[in-house]
Amino acid sequence: MTTPHMEAPTDTGTNVLVVSYSFSSQTNNLVQALCSGLEKEGMCIVWERLVPVQSLRFPVGTVSGTVRMMLETFLRKRIPIEPLAPVSFDHYDLLILAGPTWSYNPSGPVLSLIDRDGQRLFRDKFVLPLISCRGYWRVHWWGLKFLLRRCGAMVPNVMVFSHPNPEPWRTIGVFLKLAGGIPEKKSWLAGKYRKYGHTTMQIKEARLFGKMIGKELAEGGTELHLLNFDTTIARP
Ligand SMILES: Cc1cc2nc3c(=O)[nH]c(=O)nc-3n(C[C@H](O)[C@H](O)[C@H](O)COP(=O)(O)O)c2cc1C
Repeated sequence: MTTPHMEAPTDTGTNVLVVSYSFSSQTNNLVQALCSGLEKEGMCIVWERLVPVQSLRFPVGTVSGTVRMMLETFLRKRIPIEPLAPVSFDHYDLLILAGPTWSYNPSGPVLSLIDRDGQRLFRDKFVLPLISCRGYWRVHWWGLKFLLRRCGAMVPNVMVFSHPNPEPWRTIGVFLKLAGGIPEKKSWLAGKYRKYGHTTMQIKEARLFGKMIGKELAEGGTELHLLNFDTTIARP
């Protein structure tokens, strides 16, 4: 896959803008694969990553810092972001907005984006969200859909990827990881918790989703709502 870069969209091809935020690289890995699938189908990609004005450190590193972050994100604290590249405001056939769930909400950088640029970026556009989460995404999805529609966007579908570990180990694993631990190496957890985040199979599934979207866009893009992203690989 060629690395998507910040060139102007083409006049002739089908252009997709991907706007993403990723704290612990999980969304990034999915988006990279998604873009590779889109490119395979001949789509032209512009990928804009949201950059917080004050950089956030992953992992948070302490239990108290992790609890504070969870409380603040529950209250939908905004995380100010740097301005988008001007090319983001050009015309695109589809926008993909990708990011993690933070305490049942979109992440702070995505909330800041919607507050600041939502009307200009999303009005009258088709916007397809991609959510990376440990498993609790529905409130995030409903809230995000509401916010995007309020900006004038059309939201035909959603891609959700959940961490495949069973509960309660998944929640414990994410918390320990954020607090700076290595959950996979804790003797009492190791057998139940294989790894933080998404699997290689899920990354491949994201690439497949990219190809599905690319094929649909090549045929006019009117049936994005019919694409089935609710697979047992993406949402185990
Ligand atoms: C502050 C915080 C709150 C989180 N809250 C949720 C949540 O409510 N539901 C959920 O399923 N995952 C939650 N997660 C887990 C992330 O959504 C998950 O690890 C995701 O894959 C991270 O993606 P990223 O690496 O792109 O940031 C939370 C993570 C953080 C950092």
